[in-house]
Amino acid sequence: MEGNGNNNDFFIIKAKDNGVHVIGLTRGQDTRFHHTEKLDKGEVMIAQFTEHTSAVKVRGKAIIMTKFGTVDTEE
Ligand code: TRP
Repeated sequence: MEGNGNNNDFFIIKAKDNGVHVIGLTRGQDTRFHHTEKLDKGEVMIAQFTEHTSAVKVRGKAIIMTKFGTVDTEE
């Protein structure tokens, strides 16, 4: 994994509801969705920022854990 701003920390998304979407946005000049993962209640996704992914959008009720702390999308 290169070109990702030398950060290979993982982050965790835990769905609190069915139909939570984790959307990866492309790195570089062009910012667009490149992957949408649908999580159902209780499902967990563990991911990283990569050379392909510079941002992530989470849609729905979920808990997001990063090294900066934990965020609940409902709060
Ligand atoms: N193929 C993608 C990548 O290497 C997989 C991925 C990594 C991803 N992190 C993500 C997809 C976050 C969605 C959200 O970048």
